[in-house]
Amino acid sequence: MKDSHIVESSRYASSFALHLFLLSSLFFDLVTCGSINVPDTVLLNCGSNEASQFNGENWIGDVGSNFLPPEYEKSSSPLLISNIHSGEPKVPYSTARITYSPLTYSFPSSPGLKFVRVYFLSSLYLMMNPSKAYFSVKAGPYTLLSDFNPSVFAEELNLVSFTKDFLVNVREDKLNITFTPSPLISNAFAFVNGIETFPVPHTIYFPGSKIPVPYIGQQKPLFINGEYALETLYRVSIDSDLTDVKNAFGLWLDDDRYISSSQYGSVLDIKSRTVSLNYTILSSKDYNYSAPAELYLTARTMDSNGDANIKYNLTWFFPVDSGFKYLVRLHFCEISMMVTQPNQRVFKVYINNQTAEERMDVVALAGAPLTPVHKDYVAMVPNESGRRNYLSISLHPNMEPKPKYADAILNGIEIMKISDSDGSLAAMFQFRREQRNKKFQHVIIVAGATLGAILGLLLTSFILISRARKKLKWRTSHILPSNSSSSHKNIQPTVTSGLCHQFTFAEISIATSNFSEALVIGEGGFGKVYKGIMQHDGYTPVAVKRSNRSSRQGYKEFQNEINIFSFCHMNLVSLLGYCQEANELILVYEYMTQGPLCDHLYKKQKQPLSWIQRLRICVGAARGIHYLHTGTTHPVIHRDIKSANILLDQNWVAKIADFGLCRTVPSLCHSHVSTEVKGTYGYLDPEYYKRRKLTEKSDVYSFGVVLFEVLCGRPAVNPVAVEEENEKVGLATWAMHCYQCGTVDKLVDPHLEGNVRAECLRDFVDIGIQCLANRSADRPTMGEVLSSLEKILCLQEFFLKGN
Ligand SMILES: *[C@@H]1O[C@H](CO)[C@@H](O)[C@H](O)[C@H]1NC(C)=O
Ligand SMILES: *[C@@H]1O[C@H](CO)[C@@H](O)[C@H](O)[C@H]1NC(C)=O
Ligand SMILES: *[C@@H]1O[C@H](CO)[C@@H](O)[C@H](O)[C@H]1NC(C)=O
Ligand SMILES: *[C@@H]1O[C@H](CO)[C@@H](O)[C@H](O)[C@H]1NC(C)=O
Ligand SMILES: *[C@@H]1O[C@H](CO)[C@@H](O)[C@H](O)[C@H]1NC(C)=O
Ligand SMILES: *[C@@H]1O[C@H](CO)[C@@H](O)[C@H](O)[C@H]1NC(C)=O
Repeated sequence: MKDSHIVESSRYASSFALHLFLLSSLFFDLVTCGSINVPDTVLLNCGSNEASQFNGENWIGDVGSNFLPPEYEKSSSPLLISNIHSGEPKVPYSTARITYSPLTYSFPSSPGLKFVRVYFLSSLYLMMNPSKAYFSVKAGPYTLLSDFNPSVFAEELNLVSFTKDFLVNVREDKLNITFTPSPLISNAFAFVNGIETFPVPHTIYFPGSKIPVPYIGQQKPLFINGEYALETLYRVSIDSDLTDVKNAFGLWLDDDRYISSSQYGSVLDIKSRTVSLNYTILSSKDYNYSAPAELYLTARTMDSNGDANIKYNLTWFFPVDSGFKYLVRLHFCEISMMVTQPNQRVFKVYINNQTAEERMDVVALAGAPLTPVHKDYVAMVPNESGRRNYLSISLHPNMEPKPKYADAILNGIEIMKISDSDGSLAAMFQFRREQRNKKFQHVIIVAGATLGAILGLLLTSFILISRARKKLKWRTSHILPSNSSSSHKNIQPTVTSGLCHQFTFAEISIATSNFSEALVIGEGGFGKVYKGIMQHDGYTPVAVKRSNRSSRQGYKEFQNEINIFSFCHMNLVSLLGYCQEANELILVYEYMTQGPLCDHLYKKQKQPLSWIQRLRICVGAARGIHYLHTGTTHPVIHRDIKSANILLDQNWVAKIADFGLCRTVPSLCHSHVSTEVKGTYGYLDPEYYKRRKLTEKSDVYSFGVVLFEVLCGRPAVNPVAVEEENEKVGLATWAMHCYQCGTVDKLVDPHLEGNVRAECLRDFVDIGIQCLANRSADRPTMGEVLSSLEKILCLQEFFLKGN
């Protein structure tokens, strides 16, 4: 068995050349173990019986891998997932290993530190109930996860697939990873889609028992030795939007989503300057595993105005589990040409409001400018009855004595969770306990890792609470404070039952003539939309959205829409009420007589809209989106702006519909989880698509596409019958092309010819093109788009009157 493993492993290992070369050469240096000839790098595609290549890496199936107990080795049929999401990588996510009893993967290994990455896809497995997927994961003596439900986690982060990454010490010649379904839940099961493991030099994150790590707020330092396991949570770099910052553990994410205040400081970027950094302090081991060289080429500083800098702290907030210690590694490198001597830029570093560094002077610490260094700290995030909490890092100039520049600088942050005294890294899933122990009236849905998990609970609470005519308050973990003064602990938003009517199923059946097919006016991922007539007070037409019973997506989006309904704005479609009975999930909206905007732009049978009408619709839609972005306590990103989601009422007033994909921002995001990209092809912000970075500017991009649909009277995808090239052409690309070639006239809908004032056309195209900027930072805000459109409308109306 062992021999065959060696053969197997070396076969796939050979294609890992680079990867392995880096890893194993180091590994052999560090671990004195003469007999290792087993390459330790494993990429295991669980539930599969075949080898596959993905992204240049070779995966093997777990069936026949010899890592599973013998009884599993024979099962030959792979467990295919029926509804693999199109955005997820096929390997390892298209198959899973599912078990109702404890299951151990046993990887032959050499003693030493191992990186362990576990891949999960939150999905319906063979129609098994995802809420029954509660399990623990142990690696050797360490508990990595406990009472873990991947769909809860995925909901919280708003993604479908994700990984959990760990560093564990292997002491024997085997690394055993055990998945155990929770004994507390009947019929609980465990699943896993993939496991990756490779050796890592010990010294990278474990300075050992000789080098003390300052423990913030404690007298005694902590010695991080092989006793501990770590979970790698965040790796952020500054402004990494345009360059990939990557190390052996994957991509580093942009830091700006973690900045909480309105003050973002400024970004220093020397990528274009031909300077070389002096890496002697950090060995190459460090930057291959910990910090890559590119990390140090950008930095965040405060602003150029020292007086203003004294008035604020440059602060990052990271959501973490409470009750654990965290290893915080700050990366510094003085890259400003102005700062070359010690005592020129001296600042304080606070971690969780406590002083970590009274006088940080990067040039003094590194001995010279352009020399990367990093410093480690340990911080305890106190136990707040199991809730999620925040770890904050703040910088502030130290003014005593007054330095040359009242400023601060930072190049990167890493945060790792340290296992507790029981060797556990697993946070409690508090909500389940509360649900068990308390009466429903007392349920205040707790913050924490649990928002997504609470779907069912929230829904039940809604009903209960609307009966009890009480206010439901809920907290969300993914909402960071939008400014530093409003504490993230505030309960936001508050939803009152009075706003949302609960219909009975009977009422809705009558209104829709028992869901007559003849009344279907639309269909989507959620289910079908019917036109209905409510005979409450008079004769009110409504739109009835009925959830497709098997659609989990529907359930989630339903939830989301109920949350968003508290918004009331004349340019947002109003939710009148809902119905939840038995298996039915139904939403009732105001009826929009004229239907979606797209129907009026390129459906032949409709009367073409006039230019003024089109401008008014654009202004209305922009107002609706602007309201979502700014009119509420926490900005909301729609994520699916398109002409099909802009509906028109009988007076041609545009209203934004379909809040199923909405997100409050900034959404919590792990450093190495892949956010599921949602939205519609043709409207997707390229930066969001590429970087998985979601901001309000993603809506701005999509709205830019809508502006060109309006101007051109063509759909977002395949706007022109391309005879010569049979490529798929997006309207955005085409518009950009015409703009650059100065052939904007070609864009204008023939129906509009002669009606568009030249200056209006110029300004309209300008704002549209700005919306389509590749970099989100270069796009205007929705407020700016709105005011431009208002000006254009004004101008056009003026000429109309003048004529
Ligand atoms: C790992 O699992 C294998 C097979 O289940 C078992 O024989 C072995 O004793 C385990 N090793 C450790 C260190 O737990
Ligand atoms: C790099 O830094 C080391 C240690 O600070 C120093 O000894 C060395 O001279 C520096 N090299 C260069 C090229 O500046
Ligand atoms: C680090 O990576 C570079 C290039 O990727 C490689 O040349 C070098 O040998 C690596 N160093 C170590 C110690 O692995
Ligand atoms: C740090 O202070 C800010 C306000 O000064 C407060 O909102 C925040 O909760 C504090 N954080 C911790 C961890 O105490
Ligand atoms: C910066 O943060 C520290 C620690 O939370 C706090 O004591 C200090 O008052 C803050 N300074 C400013 C200007 O907000
Ligand atoms: C955290 O609090 C819970 C209950 O308040 C307690 O059971 C648990 O032991 C505490 N954990 C730590 C690490 O203090």
